[in-house]
Amino acid sequence: MEIFHIGAECYPVAKVGGLADVIGALPKYQSSFKNQVRVVIPSYETTFRKENNFECVHWGKLKLGTFNFPFTVQKETSNKLGFELYLIEIPELFDRPNVYNYKDDIERFVSFQIATLDWIIGRNSMPDIIHCHDHHTGLIPFMKKFCPKYEKIKDITTLITIHNSLYQGIFTFNKLYYLPEFDLVHIKELEWENYINSLASGIKCADAITTVSPSYLNEINYTGSGLETLYQRVRDKSKGILNGIDLTIWNPEKDFMINTNYSNSDFYEGKQRNKEELCLHFGMNPAKPLFSFIGRLYNEKGADLLSKVVQSAMATLKEEINILILGYGDTEIENQLTQLLPVYKGNYSVYIGYNEELAHKTYAGSDFIMIPSRVEPCGLNQMYALRYGTIPIVRRTGGLRDTISDFEDNGNGICHEQPSAEDVCDAIDRAVNLYKDKDRTNALRIKGMNTDHSWENVSQEYLELYNLIIAKKYES
Ligand code: GLC
Repeated sequence: MEIFHIGAECYPVAKVGGLADVIGALPKYQSSFKNQVRVVIPSYETTFRKENNFECVHWGKLKLGTFNFPFTVQKETSNKLGFELYLIEIPELFDRPNVYNYKDDIERFVSFQIATLDWIIGRNSMPDIIHCHDHHTGLIPFMKKFCPKYEKIKDITTLITIHNSLYQGIFTFNKLYYLPEFDLVHIKELEWENYINSLASGIKCADAITTVSPSYLNEINYTGSGLETLYQRVRDKSKGILNGIDLTIWNPEKDFMINTNYSNSDFYEGKQRNKEELCLHFGMNPAKPLFSFIGRLYNEKGADLLSKVVQSAMATLKEEINILILGYGDTEIENQLTQLLPVYKGNYSVYIGYNEELAHKTYAGSDFIMIPSRVEPCGLNQMYALRYGTIPIVRRTGGLRDTISDFEDNGNGICHEQPSAEDVCDAIDRAVNLYKDKDRTNALRIKGMNTDHSWENVSQEYLELYNLIIAKKYES
C-alpha cells in the first residue's frame, strides 16, 4: 500500500511537541510491514535541513489566490529515517527557524497544502491513502474532493488524525479566494460557526477520523473545543487509536543521550547514576525523590499550576523533595517559574527551552514525572516515563486515563482527578510515602518498564483501518 503522511512536524526533522514524535515513528513502523510510506512536511530552516542531503524531485509555482509562490519538493536521500521524507520548500513562507506562531500561519499552511496536492497530482503513481494530521492539513480532504484542479485524485481515501482539537486553523471568509476554485454549493463543507475552519472541514470531508486515544474521542463529544456537535455527527467514521512510542529512540538500554544505560532486569544502579548526574547538574541532592515536569508550558498542560505546586510542596516537604521543570511556552508561566529559583535553590530548578537530550536524561534520572494536564489527547510523556522506570503522576484525562491507573488500585502510576495544585500536591504526598517503601517503588518501576507501548501493534491497527475505509469506499 502507498501511504502519504502529511503534517507540520516530524522528528527528528522539526519538532515542537508529540505530533513530531508520532509522524516520525508511525511511518517507520508501517514501512516495516512492506508498505511504501512517505512523509511530507514543510521545509523549515532547521539543523536537519542544513546537515542532510536532499534531491529536488519537483518544482512548481503555487497559487494562493492572487499570490504566486515558487516551491520545490526536496527528497531526503540517505533514507536513514526508515521512510521516505519529502520537504515542501516554499522559501518565502517557511524559510524561518520556527514551525508556528507567525502572523501569516494561515497563508503558510494553506500554501503548504496546495503545494502538496499540486505535487501529488503531477506524480505518476497515486497513493492509496492520504493520512492528514491536525488542522495544518485539514483542508486537503476538501480540496482533493471538490476542487476540479485535483479531479485526478478525488477518489483517494483520506483520513485525518486529531492530535489536538483545541487548534483548528480558523480564518475568515474573505480569504476564501486562497483556495483553488470549486463549486460554491460545497461551501458548507469548509465552514464552522461562520468561519472557515480547517479542522472542522477535515472532519467533515475525510473518509475517517482518528483521535490519538479512545478516551479523548469520548471527551471531545462534550468538552471544550467548540466542535462537540460535529464530533457527535461523525461518530460512525471515528475511532480512537492510542499512540505508541518509538522504542528505537526511547530505550534506556541503548539510549545514547543518557549517561548510564540500564535494562528492565537490572535498572537500579543505572537509574541511580543517571539521577546523581542530573541532580549534580542542577545542584540538587540525589538522596531525595526527584519530581519532574517536561513539556510545553501552557495552561492546557496544567503548567500554570506548577508555581503553586512548587510553593506548596516546598512549604510542607521542603527537606524531602526536589522539583525540576523543563519546557518553554507561555512567557508569564516561564517568569513565574524562574522567579522561584532563588527561593528554593538546592531543591528546585528550571530549564526554559527545548532540549531533547536533557529530556532523555530527565526521564532516566527522575523518580516521578508530573503530568497535570487539563487536556491530553494522548500524551507520550507518561509512556516514555514508564519505559525509563519513572513513575507518572497524572491527571485522569484523555490518553493519560487510558494508560495510567493508580498504584493503590493495582495500577502503574499515581492519578488525581482535578487539574489543581491541591490535587497535584496530594499526589506528591502519596508519592513521597510510596518512595519510602523501596520494594513497592521498585516493583512499580519494573511494572512500568515491562509495559508494551510500542508502535508495532498500533501501526497494524492503522493499516487495518486504511483497508476498511478503502473497502467501504468501493462498496458505496
Ligand atoms: C499533541 C497532544 C498530545 C499527543 C500528541 C501526539 O501534542 O497534545 O496529547 O500525545 O499530540 O499525538
